[in-house]
Amino acid sequence: MKIQSLKLVYFSPTGTTKAIIQGIARGINQSAVELIDITKPNARKQQLQTSENELLVVAVPVYMGRVPALLMEWLLRIKAHNTPTVCIVVYGNRVYDDALLELKDTLITCGCLPITCAAYIGEHSFSSSETPTCPVGAIASENSNLIDNEKCITCCACIKNCPQNARTMKTGLVKDAAIRLNTLYQERKEPVFFL
Ligand SMILES: Cc1cc2nc3c(=O)[nH]c(=O)nc-3n(C[C@H](O)[C@H](O)[C@H](O)COP(=O)(O)O)c2cc1C
Repeated sequence: MKIQSLKLVYFSPTGTTKAIIQGIARGINQSAVELIDITKPNARKQQLQTSENELLVVAVPVYMGRVPALLMEWLLRIKAHNTPTVCIVVYGNRVYDDALLELKDTLITCGCLPITCAAYIGEHSFSSSETPTCPVGAIASENSNLIDNEKCITCCACIKNCPQNARTMKTGLVKDAAIRLNTLYQERKEPVFFL
């Protein structure tokens, strides 16, 4: 088996997972690198196929200790053939719970061969700096005040991206969680790797 190219797949509504996967890409000395951003719904219409001659890296944020549920359908459609795979989860300094195991097990069912797994820590989505927009198309294009609550995954990309800082976290469960996170999980955790 000779690795001829590198495919880096990431879902990253608020940009942290993307930053980590870009760092990994810089660290792997491979000239043929394809970055596959599955954050937007359109990108998830395309199925991923890979072979044993490619190295696949899949990185997702942790949502409630799991792989974000909306990604499962896309992940399960991956067609791999003994593709050496690196599984990465990025979490907001609380816990990554079952997410790494879930990602690994899911990718095995698609024909991937996990060779390394890692959990990295990033800024929590419920904190307060800027980044990109709705990954699930929950905001109406004609009136951005209209949000489809069924589709919304509370990733906070719209709050972080708003150029006018017009969007804020309303009082409620998410805001309560943000306050709890800021007080309970201040102590910095370190990345872990499983080879
Ligand atoms: C809905 C939701 C649930 C989350 N659940 C967790 C969690 O269980 N544990 C944790 O440490 N971080 C959690 N986070 C924080 C994200 O995993 C973290 O901020 C990650 O870096 C976001 O990645 P992104 O910037 O690529 O979107 C959650 C974030 C969101 C939006």
